[in-house]
Amino acid sequence: MSDIKQYIELNKQRFLDELFALLRIPSISADSAFAGDVAKAADFVAESMRAAGADKVEVCKTPGHPIVYGEKIIDPNLPTVLVYGHYDVQPAVPLELWDTPPFEPTIKKTTLHPEGAIYARGSADDKGQFYMHVKAFEFMMKNNALPCNIKMMIEGEEEVGSNNLADFCVANKERLKADVVLISDTSIIANDCPSIDTGLRGLSYVEVEITGPNRDLHSGVYGGAVANPINVLAKMIASMHDENNVITIPGFYDKVADLSAAEREDLNKAPFDLSAYKVDLDVSDVWGEKGYTVLERTGIRPTLDVNGIWGGYIGEGAKTVLPSKAFAKISMRLVPHQVSDEITELFKKHFESIAPAGIKVEVRPHHGGEPVVTPTDSVAYRAASKAMETTFGKTPVPTRGGGSIPIVAMFEKELGLKSVLMGFGLDSDGLHSPNEHYGIVNYLKGIETIPYFFKYYAEGSK
Ligand code: BES
Ligand code: MN
Ligand code: MN
Repeated sequence: MSDIKQYIELNKQRFLDELFALLRIPSISADSAFAGDVAKAADFVAESMRAAGADKVEVCKTPGHPIVYGEKIIDPNLPTVLVYGHYDVQPAVPLELWDTPPFEPTIKKTTLHPEGAIYARGSADDKGQFYMHVKAFEFMMKNNALPCNIKMMIEGEEEVGSNNLADFCVANKERLKADVVLISDTSIIANDCPSIDTGLRGLSYVEVEITGPNRDLHSGVYGGAVANPINVLAKMIASMHDENNVITIPGFYDKVADLSAAEREDLNKAPFDLSAYKVDLDVSDVWGEKGYTVLERTGIRPTLDVNGIWGGYIGEGAKTVLPSKAFAKISMRLVPHQVSDEITELFKKHFESIAPAGIKVEVRPHHGGEPVVTPTDSVAYRAASKAMETTFGKTPVPTRGGGSIPIVAMFEKELGLKSVLMGFGLDSDGLHSPNEHYGIVNYLKGIETIPYFFKYYAEGSK
């Protein structure tokens, strides 16, 4: 397999050109104005699978955006790896915060990426990462080095909650039959410190609408006598964390799995530089639940955050108005064994109960997802660990990812499949932010590592 390095060297420019072409398609799943581009990206993915040597490639229609499927079955008696990823991306707004246009990929050097990084929406999340699998597959096909069966399923709705993928999985159980799911949609600690996420948080996401008087009022004529929905909303939100930054929703922590002292110690062994973290974010201090470290706060503890808040007058100058309504979008990250629907219900009950008289509250649930923990004592985890060790020269550290990939818990529930989260990006790559980027080194390292995963997985499964 030593020839993978040479294959990358020979094809590096083409690997970049192809990814660039994919990154130029603005496949924003959340915005229906881009539905045509999402469909174009799906066709691109299908074509790339075909070109790499996949059989039965299909752009599968759903009530939402399509799912792209392809496979190579070399021997039904051998194990099967199901590769999952997503070709949809987050909206790129606000565009003025980008240094280069989000859908015109540009290479720039940074301190963390001295050899250059690809700046574009979706470069790290997840186009650059799933495309590594297509290229690694191409290598294995061309070099007769595919040691087991592969199925690839790349969806177009991850960033909007994977609403149709669950139904697709249930309806396609036979087609998706596999032994393990392999996903590159997470981060490593640093380029000289590989890691593998062994868990992801769940998500409960709600939108709230607070209504006071039946119309916007003169804030002088009525102010002081009628509850102001924005004042009320601000107070309600502020009350949801206590002085120790513990969430105050009754029952919120009831099912939270407490880790043993030994497990917490292990978790905190992962390299983490607090002062570099603060410098990177330009904050003089961190914030969070008392008694927990940053790694614990983002890895094993649940959270509540306002993602957006609006109401009243926000135009130029001043307008003295007491608004009729205020709104907020609020997300809660969940940890084992919290259940998304249950937490949404607890939030709703509590939020309604703390509203003062004279105020109407509406809580509208959005998408959710369950938390997940992935095994570290499996053939697949050991294969991923050994593969990274081979290409990075260091054993990857097991970590807990703070983000969510709701479909991972669903794979377990509906298909009985465990996942391995072998990601190659960095948390600082600007996922969902302006100036998202993905290191060229990371992209090529992923392509180099994946064939080793297949090799060690097939050997370990014997
Ligand atoms: N790839 C991310 C999740 C992620 C990023 C996990 C980094 C671990 C480390 C994924 O595309 C994502 O953004 N998920 C959403 C959830 C979804 C329901 C919108 C998230 O975490 O906000
Ligand atoms: Mn992603
Ligand atoms: Mn994402």
